[in-house]
Amino acid sequence: MSQLYELSEVAQQNGKNGKPCWLIIKGNVYDVTKFLGEHPGGGEALLEYGGKDATKAFKQAGHSSDAEKDLKNYKIGEINSAAPIQVQPTSIGAAKPTENTILADPEPAKKSSSGFCCC
Ligand code: HEM
Repeated sequence: MSQLYELSEVAQQNGKNGKPCWLIIKGNVYDVTKFLGEHPGGGEALLEYGGKDATKAFKQAGHSSDAEKDLKNYKIGEINSAAPIQVQPTSIGAAKPTENTILADPEPAKKSSSGFCCC
């Protein structure tokens, strides 16, 4: 399984002050630190997106399929997108107003079975 990173973790690796340069493309995390000097589009283009999501920029630059394949050489993991599931209490089943009223109903059948009959 792939290593999962939080957005905040990636944001720290912005290539500034000697830090590594990571970027996010389509939910994957890439370490392009060693690629800065080799990128045909220049190191600056990558540094601009250091620590950020570069999905749009990558698409807009019109990269070839070779560049797409090249991506895997720099992949270090994926963004942890699984947010904790919050179980909210719902009103379903919480209120059954008719439940008690049914039980409170008198039972007329018992009263009329007392034996008195007028006919
Ligand atoms: C790991 C990420 C990236 C890889 C592996 C990569 C790879 C490449 C490769 C192989 C090329 C040569 C042309 C081609 O084959 O398409 C290229 C060109 C280029 N890249 Fe990237 N790239 C990456 C990220 C980015 C980002 C984030 C930008 C943001 C602006 C960018 C901007 C460009 C530009 C503008 C060119 C064209 C350079 C020219 O033709 O003069 N690239 N890239």
